[in-house]
Amino acid sequence: MTTFSSSTRDIPQVKAVPRHIAIIMDGNGRWAKQRKLPRAAGHKRGVEIVREIVKACVARGVEYLTLFAFSSENWRRPEEEVSMLKQLFIIALEREAEKLHRNGICLRVVGDIAPFGKKITELVARAEQLTRANKSMTLTIAANYGGRWDLMQAMQHLIESRPEQRGGFTEEEFASHLAMAYAPEPDLFIRTGGEQRISNFLLWQLAYSEFYFTDILWPDFDAMALDRAIESYQRRERRFGRTSEQLESAGKAPSQKKALA
Ligand code: IPE
Ligand code: IPE
Ligand code: MG
Repeated sequence: MTTFSSSTRDIPQVKAVPRHIAIIMDGNGRWAKQRKLPRAAGHKRGVEIVREIVKACVARGVEYLTLFAFSSENWRRPEEEVSMLKQLFIIALEREAEKLHRNGICLRVVGDIAPFGKKITELVARAEQLTRANKSMTLTIAANYGGRWDLMQAMQHLIESRPEQRGGFTEEEFASHLAMAYAPEPDLFIRTGGEQRISNFLLWQLAYSEFYFTDILWPDFDAMALDRAIESYQRRERRFGRTSEQLESAGKAPSQKKALA
């Protein structure tokens, strides 16, 4: 398995198109409420938007798209809504796995999915198996995912992998046990729906991501809105602790990059 070195170490190649976009898809409930519809209608429309955004990301050359679909805190919602969301997840997995495969997309699901039950765990395993060799983009769905859960399970696995070692672990060793060790850290983090918080998403990996918040509710988010987020990203200067001048000279003289790292 390839693991990626932390973006906080090297001056990474900052590409015009973010290599990895992570999104908190928020605002489904409010979208439905504005239309006097049940919350379920917002979630259904939300799934349709996922389809559009996946397509747009592939077209733009994004390599990794990660979507927060259900947080470890979302169990606190009314039982009826939780079971509706599970049902939607089942339908999406049944309908979309083949299509993702035909489009060359590799699907990964991160999070503790066992509590969702056998049907979902089996569908996930099947979809992951079917799409595992696909290269056009990796789509990760975070389901019953929490950043703290991820840090804890990584720590647990790290310790189990080296029972004799009592300390002195490196960041790389730790990060290799995170649920998304197969992907580089997100370049661009988007949250729709107006809230400006992480809500226990990728706590470790968002350390140096560029943040973009929009009031647009997820069911209204579209390829144009995605492009606005990418344009905002392109105007940022990612310094990773360095000065602008250091970046400039590294950009002008690529041979200096190594010396700066
Ligand atoms: C995001 O939309 C979807 C999930 C959390 C599953 P919300 O359901 O949180 O929508 P709002 O925030 O209530 O509008
Ligand atoms: C974050 O949205 C989780 C997902 C989008 C899956 P929430 O709507 O659950 O976040 P909070 O509760 O407003 O922080
Ligand atoms: Mg919400």
